[in-house]
Amino acid sequence: MEVLVIHQFDTVIVGSGGAGLYAALEASKKSKTAVLSKLYPVRSHTGAAQGGISAALGNVEEDKAEWHAFDTVKGGDYLVDQQAAKILTEEAIQAVYDLENRGLPFNRTLEEKIDQRRFGGHTRNFGEGPVKRACYAADRTGHMILQTLYQQCIKNDVSFFDEYQVLDLILEKDVCKGVVVVELATGEMHIFAAKAVLFATGGFGRMFKITSNAYANTGDGPAVCARKGIPIQDMEFFQFHPTGIMGLGILISEAVRGEGGILRNNSGERFMERYSPTLLDLAPRDIVARSIMTEVLDGKGIRGDGKIDDYVYLDATHLGKEVLMKKLPDITDFCKTYLGIDPADKPIPVLPTAHYAMGGIPTDVHGRVLKDKNNTVVEGLYAAGECACVSVHGANRLGTNSLLDLVVFGRRAGQHIAEYVKSATLSEPDASAADAAKAWIGRMTDGREGPHGGHITDEMQTTMMEKVGIYRNEQKMEQAVQEVQELRKRYLNVRVQDSAKSFNTDLLEMIELGNLLDLSLITATAALKRQESRGAHSREDYSERDDDGWLVHSLAYLEGDSVRLDYKPVDTSIWEPKPRTY
Ligand code: FUM
Repeated sequence: MEVLVIHQFDTVIVGSGGAGLYAALEASKKSKTAVLSKLYPVRSHTGAAQGGISAALGNVEEDKAEWHAFDTVKGGDYLVDQQAAKILTEEAIQAVYDLENRGLPFNRTLEEKIDQRRFGGHTRNFGEGPVKRACYAADRTGHMILQTLYQQCIKNDVSFFDEYQVLDLILEKDVCKGVVVVELATGEMHIFAAKAVLFATGGFGRMFKITSNAYANTGDGPAVCARKGIPIQDMEFFQFHPTGIMGLGILISEAVRGEGGILRNNSGERFMERYSPTLLDLAPRDIVARSIMTEVLDGKGIRGDGKIDDYVYLDATHLGKEVLMKKLPDITDFCKTYLGIDPADKPIPVLPTAHYAMGGIPTDVHGRVLKDKNNTVVEGLYAAGECACVSVHGANRLGTNSLLDLVVFGRRAGQHIAEYVKSATLSEPDASAADAAKAWIGRMTDGREGPHGGHITDEMQTTMMEKVGIYRNEQKMEQAVQEVQELRKRYLNVRVQDSAKSFNTDLLEMIELGNLLDLSLITATAALKRQESRGAHSREDYSERDDDGWLVHSLAYLEGDSVRLDYKPVDTSIWEPKPRTY
């Protein structure tokens, strides 16, 4: 495969979800900006974020940014960097009003203010009880953010390269010089030379069998960085959203519980009363997901057989058709389409689903990528959104803080880039920068006999789900590491069966599989090494949080067949870590 096209931009953004688009919007005010996306931009996974974006507007109940910051830190089981959480929650308020001013159609109160509803772990006065903090556009909040930002980017003359898949990052002496990508429509390889590159490629839930994530969520940005020697931070923390549609994993928004929906076991009991007496069904997600699994494994799931795929009910029947249609119309449609039930009439069968990566490419609060425990910046390289780790979510993200993260830190990164590119130089790209990508694609498409990768994908997802899922232990995770190492070896022989140049989805899937395998190995290894339970990382063999030993961020370096772990301190400059009760 030859490099056919070389482009030059000041700023290249890889990924067109909320973080990428917000960064592009800011960067394009002062620099020639391109957005490269494997998808058509408004199909990015931000569009699947349903329930809301949090900000302490206080439109419906008294609220304060400080309470929001505290909830974020406590919800993250104190692994959150607290000054970053302060920025997140203080800038949230202006960020939401900016989105409103740019045309986002939020639901309204009777007084025409932005309406707000409850979400898990968001409380008034440092945990006294739930507070209405999530601003929302029905259950299509992420979709509306995408549409709003995309329109603004078009207005700002951002250049879009849709359906371009990133393959590699160009780093020269630790300075970022651009990216190597493949154009899906033609199969041609391109180099984009740039003064600044920002990764906003989203999550990687597709490493798990049951996930709310889109097929495109394959961790392309973090995997490319990991292969370039950049560590990936806090990868052992992967969030399972409590309410995926049983068996399918499709998201049923926490907004259902925010509007009053109740989780029930096979005797109809509201079991969250036993696990979280104050917040009930709106406890943070790690707690609710574990509570559901405990009920299921205790034989209190709806079938009552104690098997891992049994389920519980999310009961929204008492909300009434009008509330469901006005505030949760997409959820209502999903239930009709995928389950053949109307949630106004029947409870929804749900089970936790792999949803969100708290870990990712380490960055500072300007989105600059950090390459070691001393927080050394990789010049010209930025990351924002789910693929990044600032870290504002710590060991467990609160619902609605992901849309907020990508808006606040996407914007901050774009603003920093706009200044950075003024003095940075654009290098003449060397075609040899694409050699590694050419070798990778060339090997998979050399026409020789080799297995298809589909089985590897399946086995990876099963291993990760069963052995690095909600409940973990040393034996299972050791097996997972070995199994993923074996799968990575088998991957080296995989051959793409389709020889088409145009829209070769077989090739695309194999590129994505390579990325997921690298990130699975990192996730399983980082999880195996952390000998405590914290947030979403819940170990049967180390069931307590251990602040003396483990109040640290992990930095995982991919080194050939294995992963080296390093650690750096957590910023606890505002609140001293305390045991979590809800
Ligand atoms: O439940 C939801 O609507 C998901 C929101 C989120 O992950 O923040």
